[in-house]
Amino acid sequence: MYTLQAGIFALGTSSHAYLEFDLLDTKKCKEFASTIAAIREPRTTTGGVNFVIGFRPELWSDIVPDDAPPGVVGFNKEIQGTEGFVMPATQHDALVWMSGSTYDVIFDMARTVIHDLAGQASLAEETSSWAYRHDRDLTGFIDGSENPTLLDAPMDALLPEGVPGAAGSVLLLQKWKHKTAEWEAVPVKQQELIMGRTKLDSIELKNKPADSHVASTDQDKFGNIFRRNMPYGNVEDHGTVFVGFSADQKRLSRMLDSMAGLLTGKRDALTRYAQPLTGSYYFVPSVESLRGLR
Ligand code: HEM
Repeated sequence: MYTLQAGIFALGTSSHAYLEFDLLDTKKCKEFASTIAAIREPRTTTGGVNFVIGFRPELWSDIVPDDAPPGVVGFNKEIQGTEGFVMPATQHDALVWMSGSTYDVIFDMARTVIHDLAGQASLAEETSSWAYRHDRDLTGFIDGSENPTLLDAPMDALLPEGVPGAAGSVLLLQKWKHKTAEWEAVPVKQQELIMGRTKLDSIELKNKPADSHVASTDQDKFGNIFRRNMPYGNVEDHGTVFVGFSADQKRLSRMLDSMAGLLTGKRDALTRYAQPLTGSYYFVPSVESLRGLR
């Protein structure tokens, strides 16, 4: 019986940081993996920090070939959608995602992690994120309504027992910059058609347009995923950190293709008001696999 990294499902945390690292010497990936697996969170419960550690899928296959799910790959090629829309590929070697109740603990912990990994890996991308009006993203809509419950989510997000990578998960991390002025110029009724849900209380529209965001990512069609999206940024420059977990990478990659318009020729209407700046996949191994690296 393998155990998941508990941070995946540690809900209700309002401060987050995502640290993406590049190895300085790929020949030393095992030493790096052992350092990253030895990261210690503060031992307090109320003021603690949750960690989720992920690896570029191909790097993970090199480090622990027996525990690597076959066919999982990094975000190695940009997605060229319709009408010139592009989702960039900015894959890095490892991710440390931290979440907690306040930003000070995250800040201190992030500094420690960067310090501990210095000499082995460079910090390639750092983003911090925070909760907005309880559970809304910066479009003003409630984000996460159609997530599976915590009873069902492990089945959707984690690889099952008995396969390589059991209790691990494929994580898609994408930072989307919002075009807030353009979005706010759109009347709410039309925003609802773009999203496929009502703005105030997130009720799914009965006749949602085929290019609405909810229709473009319909889990009845692509399979269920578990999302932990958060708002990031400042007043001038902000958006959504998309954090999606799946037992099967295809669900995520097909949703991206669909949003880019590659499945039906119709691009997700939301992509007219938000632009991805980054895109990477990480394999998030089980606790047992991580402990085996120390
Ligand atoms: C700017 C970026 C994004 C924003 C602001 C955003 C926001 C939302 C909102 C407000 C909803 C409706 C409520 C809910 O069920 O959560 C939703 C649904 C959903 N989104 Fe996104 N999203 C973004 C990007 C993505 C991406 C990149 C994916 C997939 C790779 C995705 C997958 C989904 C899925 C699966 C649903 C539920 C669909 C269903 O009803 O089955 N979203 N999103």
